[in-house]
Amino acid sequence: MKEVWFIVGIIFIQEYIVINLYYERLQLREVLEKDWKFILELRNQNYKNNFLKQQEPIEINEHNEYMNKQKLNSKFHQWLAIYDTEDVGYVRILDDDVNIIVKKSFQKKGFGTIMLNLLEIKAKELGIKKLKAKVLVTNKSSKKIFEKNNYEFKTYYFEKDVF
Ligand SMILES: CC(C)(COP(=O)(O)OP(=O)(O)OC[C@H]1O[C@@H](n2cnc3c(N)ncnc32)[C@H](O)[C@@H]1OP(=O)(O)O)[C@@H](O)C(=O)NCCC(=O)NCCS
Repeated sequence: MKEVWFIVGIIFIQEYIVINLYYERLQLREVLEKDWKFILELRNQNYKNNFLKQQEPIEINEHNEYMNKQKLNSKFHQWLAIYDTEDVGYVRILDDDVNIIVKKSFQKKGFGTIMLNLLEIKAKELGIKKLKAKVLVTNKSSKKIFEKNNYEFKTYYFEKDVF
């Protein structure tokens, strides 16, 4: 029994060290126009069953038009997540609505959680008091990340095709 607890302890410490290493090396920076292509790749990497409003891949023109439009929106804030020098994800706040995407090869390593924590710091700096996330029931990873980070489950949303 003692050995089991020893192994559990070692695993726990290892995870703690890895997460802290990621924390030190991960940062959010303002999005530049040159990042738009990477953001489009993220938006198109895994949209099915994940995004509320996206059912098809987004075309570059539509994406650029959207990004251009948001330049004028004072309630739109966005950052790229950089791990050392590599682009690994994207976070955005529109009004109070959070959107977070982690590059596929970096998912399930704790990056999303760190990005969400860094995003909350940015939100506080901007004077945003509440953050919300709309999550599809099919989006397990998103549900998990918000639950894990103490977002409260607030609303049921129903929908029906009637034609
Ligand atoms: C949602 C998303 C940002 C999570 O990023 P991530 O870097 O994988 O998140 P983390 O590694 O910090 O994982 C957070 C928790 O979710 C769990 N998780 C991650 N992916 C999961 C999956 N596919 N199924 C079940 N749980 C999952 C992790 O195990 C972890 O829980 P744990 O600490 O108890 O093990 C990422 O999956 C993603 O980019 N998805 C596509 C875009 C998207 O749907 N965005 C949300 C729109 S609001």
